[in-house]
Amino acid sequence: MKISILGSTGSIGRQAVEVIQKMPDFFKVVSISGGDNIEELRKQIKLLNPQNVCVKSEQNALILQKEFPKTNVLSGDKGLIDIASDKTNERILVSVSGKTGLKPTLAAIENKIDIALANKETLVMAGDIVMARAKENGVKILPVDSEHGAIHQCLSKRTEVEKLIITASGGPFRNKTVDDIKNATVEETLHHPRWNMGKKITIDSATLMNKGLEVIEAHHLFNIPYEKIQVVVHPQSIVHSAVEYVDGSVIAQLGFPSMHIPIQYALTYPDRHEGIETKSFDFIKAQRLDFEAPDLEKFPCLKLAFEAGKQGGTLPAVMNAANEEAVFMFLAGKISLREIYEITKKIMNEHKNIQNPSLEQILEQDIITREKTKSLFQKK
Ligand SMILES: NC(=O)c1ccc[n+]([C@@H]2O[C@H](COP(=O)([O-])OP(=O)(O)OC[C@H]3O[C@@H](n4cnc5c(N)ncnc54)[C@H](OP(=O)(O)O)[C@@H]3O)[C@@H](O)[C@H]2O)c1
Repeated sequence: MKISILGSTGSIGRQAVEVIQKMPDFFKVVSISGGDNIEELRKQIKLLNPQNVCVKSEQNALILQKEFPKTNVLSGDKGLIDIASDKTNERILVSVSGKTGLKPTLAAIENKIDIALANKETLVMAGDIVMARAKENGVKILPVDSEHGAIHQCLSKRTEVEKLIITASGGPFRNKTVDDIKNATVEETLHHPRWNMGKKITIDSATLMNKGLEVIEAHHLFNIPYEKIQVVVHPQSIVHSAVEYVDGSVIAQLGFPSMHIPIQYALTYPDRHEGIETKSFDFIKAQRLDFEAPDLEKFPCLKLAFEAGKQGGTLPAVMNAANEEAVFMFLAGKISLREIYEITKKIMNEHKNIQNPSLEQILEQDIITREKTKSLFQKK
């Protein structure tokens, strides 16, 4: 299969490269892309020998072009769109973080290329538009998120679904008090008990905003109303998600927690391969699996995401932009963890929602919201 990886230097991207390395006869990498980490890109160019490489800045593109004269080196958002539009690709893994994923995903869809989608922000911002265009073009959107990968495997007949059950590990603060969470340091917040991920998604996992983004993602991917999506905290992260059918049967997908498995599933679907070696889950050794309701007092961001999703329009994109900017400020040590919620809520309350927005309106609101969020910090 001819594939490209957008965001090959990130946590998902590097794990995808490991999956691909284990199956050299199955995959041929056409293009890869990174942001600022050109050291990792250098290694990947030598390893994968792609035709095209894209990097964020023009300056870094010039450096790489000199070092690798046989590789076509591109830069910026335009470079990502060019890579995503290349019809040589049979599948594209979109694993860039944040809003950078949206336009290349749409470009791949217009060119009828199937997508393995890790970048949940794409569906949070413009899920209606992306899914409608994918349908028009006969393009498959294959989820990489472990929860959505699980649901994808558990869904046989979509019409007979009673509800989707999305599991959450609960993050590093599951057993902490509201006050502990208010004063959590960046270091504590980045210490996720189960998953080793990029910084933005790790902070979102600590506030449970990540689970909220996944609820919106699931709504769009599987065309299920929000009332039929339940979040359940499951600290062992063995049950990756489940589907309850109208007859009361529940089908769940289980496995040892490893992102290699859902990445490989999205890249090789509909086939399954031995591929990368993973620990097998031992039911007897596991002894117990725990489940509990999420605590919305401690983690109010989850409530915000349900509200944004239900209201629809431009509100999910606005919530996403405000949250992302607030996360960056938290990582920079400028605000507390609690303020991510407070600021996002304030921005959402002040937003005049636009229903059935065009892509241009969504992107415009994204820019306005980011500026507004940044100006709130400056006033502090
Ligand atoms: N990590 C997980 O386990 C996981 C699970 C499910 C879903 N996801 C989703 O997958 C996506 C990626 O997550 P991650 O944890 O892999 O993030 P990450 O480690 O931060 O990696 C992000 C990737 O995007 C690139 N990038 C960032 N900004 C860019 C820009 N402006 N232009 C071009 N490239 C840019 C980065 O390049 P440089 O590093 O070179 O700057 C890197 O390759 C997110 O949407 C996340 O929600 C992640």
